[in-house]
Amino acid sequence: MANGVGVFNTATVEEAKGALITDVDGRELIDFAGGIGVVNAGHCPEPVVKAIQAQAEKYLHTSFNVVTYEPYIKLCEELAEILPHGDKTKVMLISTGAEAVENAVKIARQATKRPAVLCFTEAYHGRTLLGMSLTSKVNYKFSSGPFAPEIYRIPFPNFYKYHGTQDMEEFVDTELKRLHESAHNLVDINSVAAIIIEPIQGEGGFNPVPQKYLEGLRSFCDKHGVLLIFDEIQSGFCRTGHWAAWQHYKVQPDLSTYAKSLGSGLPISAVVGRAEIMDAAAPGTIGGTYIGSPVCCAAALATIQYMKDENLNKRAEHLGKIVTKRMEQLQKECPEIGDVRGIGAMIGIDLIKDKDPGKPNTELCSKVVKGCAEEGLILLSAGTLKNVIRILSPLVITDEQLNRGLDILENQIRLNV
Ligand SMILES: Cc1ncc(COP(=O)(O)O)c(C=O)c1O
Repeated sequence: MANGVGVFNTATVEEAKGALITDVDGRELIDFAGGIGVVNAGHCPEPVVKAIQAQAEKYLHTSFNVVTYEPYIKLCEELAEILPHGDKTKVMLISTGAEAVENAVKIARQATKRPAVLCFTEAYHGRTLLGMSLTSKVNYKFSSGPFAPEIYRIPFPNFYKYHGTQDMEEFVDTELKRLHESAHNLVDINSVAAIIIEPIQGEGGFNPVPQKYLEGLRSFCDKHGVLLIFDEIQSGFCRTGHWAAWQHYKVQPDLSTYAKSLGSGLPISAVVGRAEIMDAAAPGTIGGTYIGSPVCCAAALATIQYMKDENLNKRAEHLGKIVTKRMEQLQKECPEIGDVRGIGAMIGIDLIKDKDPGKPNTELCSKVVKGCAEEGLILLSAGTLKNVIRILSPLVITDEQLNRGLDILENQIRLNV
């Protein structure tokens, strides 16, 4: 196995159900990582497994380009309905998150006939060449250049880390001023096709964009004829208590990208957008052999139905409240917990040194993640400097399992501070 393939936890799975993973030694592990935010509907939800089996018996692959099939069309219709972009919405399907980002950018470039893309510090958009070029964290890009051209980066409005003495209002005003200045000092705005942003950053440390900043970004894009792309690959599909985090903000993108929990573990991703923008891409310029495999489409349709039946958006709110309450309680006795933040069940716990948000506590975070793994809790870190504990447990986790996992996490934080 190539050295470059990272492994965070050495457990080997035997089977997984709901929020629990059983390893080959018979150990039961509580899953707070959800396969990196992929199993919001839980491991192996029964209706999803049944839909996969039923589809696999009918046909596995024709390539939608060659012979079309109904599950693809049904899924596009469903996505357009739950994620409307203006009056008329269109959808394209692919397999991975990075592919969705690549295609969204290609569509935006064709629609505007402009080459440049603006992205943000602390952003993560995947590991293909364009995805990696849009990604901020240097560790993911080590010695992998040259990167794609015409990509420009502006500071992410990370209130917690950079607000200094400013309140939210002043901070957002300063950041929006910087954004407007970028039209003069960074790149000719008339050559910018799109701005891509995660409404709540995933890998970057679970950083929510301030409401007023997202509204300002929308106005800035409208003013300059720039398209706004929301990358919802980690934050989508009930994680924040909505199908997409932008629905929480009530700020509509022109294009948006989804993957991960859409397929409950089967590789399926989507670009959703305003019809006239989506249709600007010429036939054959977007897609590939596996553009929405029938089995993956069946899995996604069953996942969405299951999410509706189980009301996982509501459940995300409930789980998020439990996590936030317990972590805020612990924060009172542990100054190393600098911030507990997030939307719905997308909660990050920011670990710092000397009560200074500018001093990330990478060592503590690494010890806690390792200690939790030994105690049977699978956990992931996030943040450019890996100092944020992120909770991405399946949303079907029971309150008892969640609290058991939080007991382990609290214990490990207390032991290591
Ligand atoms: C916000 C965001 N965009 C894009 C990606 C890339 O998705 P994939 O790993 O499926 O290519 C990820 C994956 O973590 C992500 O979190």
